[in-house]
Formats: sequence, C-alpha cells, structure tokens
Amino acid sequence: MLSLKCLSKTNISTACSYVINGRLRNVRDSVKLKRGLHTRFSVKEDTGSRAERKVCEAVLQHFNTQYNEELGETWLSAREVLLNPHCWQYGVLLNRFSDHLDIKAVLKSLGYYSLLSQPDSPIVRSLQCLVHREAVRLRSQRHRPGWLKQYYLLNAASLLPVLALAVRDGESVLDLCSAPGGKALAVLQTANPGLLHCNEVDKSRYEWLIKTLESYVPRELRDTLALTNEDGRDIGGTKTEMFDKVLVDAPCSSDRSWLFSSGAQQVELRLRERANLPQLQKELLCSALAAVRPGGLVVYSTCTFSRAENQSVMEEVLSTSQGVELMELEEDLICSLSGHFKFAHLQPPLGHLVVPEQGRTWGPMYVCRLRRKPSS
Ligand SMILES: C[S@@+](CC[C@H](N)C(=O)[O-])C[C@H]1O[C@@H](n2cnc3c(N)ncnc32)[C@H](O)[C@@H]1O
Repeated sequence: MLSLKCLSKTNISTACSYVINGRLRNVRDSVKLKRGLHTRFSVKEDTGSRAERKVCEAVLQHFNTQYNEELGETWLSAREVLLNPHCWQYGVLLNRFSDHLDIKAVLKSLGYYSLLSQPDSPIVRSLQCLVHREAVRLRSQRHRPGWLKQYYLLNAASLLPVLALAVRDGESVLDLCSAPGGKALAVLQTANPGLLHCNEVDKSRYEWLIKTLESYVPRELRDTLALTNEDGRDIGGTKTEMFDKVLVDAPCSSDRSWLFSSGAQQVELRLRERANLPQLQKELLCSALAAVRPGGLVVYSTCTFSRAENQSVMEEVLSTSQGVELMELEEDLICSLSGHFKFAHLQPPLGHLVVPEQGRTWGPMYVCRLRRKPSS
C-alpha cells in the first residue's frame, strides 16, 4: 500500500512525501505552480476510512456461491483484490476544461502515466486519464462555486463504455442512468456532443449529478446539456429515435461496494432485490434501443461479474428485439487496453468483462455494444 501526501503552494517548489509500507520518503518536485486559486492543489491520503471497512459475510457467501461457478479461478484472484481496499488503484481523469497542466506535470513526476497512449486517435488526444502502478489515491477536490475542478477520480475501467460509445462532435447522446456523472464527464472529455442528455431517476443522486456537471463543465457548454429526473424506462417512449448514441450504465449489483454493505436490513434488501435487477436492466436497455435512431449505437455496461446482469440481459434483448445487432468493440481498442486491464474469457462470449487482479485492480466492468440496424 502506498499513500501519498503532497502539498503545493503558489510559486514555490512542490514538496511531496510518500508512505510506502509505513516508511516516509521525501521527494522534492521542481514544478512551479502558477498564481491563482485554480492552480493550487493538495493531495492527501485518507487511509482511515478504507482501513475501517468491514466485509459483509452474507454478501461474500452469496458471491462465492455464484462466482465460483461462473468464473472459477478468476473469481478467486478478483476476490483477493475486492476484499482489500488498500490495494485499490484510482484513475485520475483530467478535466480538459480546467487549467490542469501543472497537476499533470506533478503527477507524471510522481510516477503516474497515461492510460491511453495512441497518439493518432482523436479521442485519446483529448481524454487524459493518469494511472499509477501503486494504490495511490489523491484527495478529491471540493466543490467551489464558479471554479472548475481539475480532475475526477474513477475506476479506470469505467472509461471502457465511454470509449465504446466513441462519441463524435455534434452527435446527440443520451446517458440514461447518469448519476453521479462520471461517464457523462468522460464523454465530454472525448468530444463536443451537439446534445448530451443526462437522466437519473433518484432525486438525491440527480442533485449530485447536477453538482458534478457544475463542478467540471464551463457555463458556455451547459447549453448543450439537458438534465432530467425520470425513470429511464419511459424515455424510449417520449424521445423515440432522437439520439445517435445511448449509454445504459445500468443499476446493478455493484460487487465492489456491495461487499462492504453494512446493516442486516440493507444486506437483506439488496440480496432480495438482486433477483429483480435483470428485468429492470432489460427494460432500460429496450428503452435505450427505442431512443436511438436507426443506425445508432447503444452501449450497455455494469460493474458486476454477474452473468444474469450481463450476458443474459444481452442474450435476451438480442433474441427478442427486431432490427438490433451486436456490434463488437474495435479489436485495436481491446488490444490497446489489454496491457492495463485483465479481460475475462466469457461464456457465452458476448461483450467484454474487465476483472481486477493484483497490480491491475480495475473493474469489475462489463461492456457490450449494440446497433440498431439502419432502416432499409
Ligand atoms: C451504475 S449507476 C450510474 C453511474 C454513472 N453512469 C456514472 O458513471 O457516474 C446507475 C444509476 O442508475 C440509476 N437508476 C436506477 N434505476 C433507474 C431508472 N429506472 N432510470 C434511470 N436511472 C436509474 C441509479 O440511481 C444509479 O444512479
């Protein structure tokens, strides 16, 4: 476990100290930071809250039974990562709308490197996510009205659905299940959509979504954003064929966080409601397919290993929807990411599943892409 403490002030050298296995090391960084509130940054490791998390035995047993059968050995190595928050890595998504050049330089000098490194790809040119080989976590920046945050912390595998969506400038995009807004933000790093419609059903998460967008997106771009607080299952009926691309980042078992569920009642409720998730996921996916124009793309993603919430949802929707086809992710996208992400061998082989392992703790993240066939 490596933790990092780094404090910087305006116009002085940046002093950083790391803790690796309990021993303190100092690093002096010569990067000068410009004057101004927006370029000040401090980085501090919060080890306490992660150390205190307790694994929920009931959820673990439930997952053991299901995933031993579905994933075998892969579950055993993924489980080792999920049960140890001290080894979790975090990606740092830089906000292209803010002044982040100094932070990028500091992070690179601390051993961060770019997740995506195909200089000829237009998406890769604007989407910058830095990762570290060790489990380093920067402190999240606070929301300050009128100031744009410089980075967003995320599980780097969350970028896979956004890359699969491959949004181009001017396109109309729907993010059907959007809060807290990480993927919407990543979409805006890759292109300038003509419209990005973000929807979230839960009222408090909808408020959180608004705050995220306010914290990262400049005022002049907000005209291209639409926000709604609706049930995503209704949107296919009200906004039929209105979008070029739709992302369904579906509500799911969220394996990583569910393992740390607390309170017997919450656990019981989650495990009971888990059985209903595939139905909700299918309905959301069908709504997305109605909202996308013929020829448009729908990307479905979850952060669970569960076959019932991943391939089975895709199988059923593909077999019951007319004019819809599977659209494999580009070979070069998967190849370029396979150094960073471990992909599972899926049965049935529908979509892609990133599974965490030591040193590459990204995932779980399932992604599958569909296309509505163009009308003839
Ligand atoms: C996996 S999270 C989305 C994460 C988000 N895309 C991001 O990257 O920050 C799934 C979200 O779907 C929302 N949700 C659940 N049921 C929904 C529904 N029927 N319609 C729309 N959103 C729904 C949940 O409240 C939750 O915020």
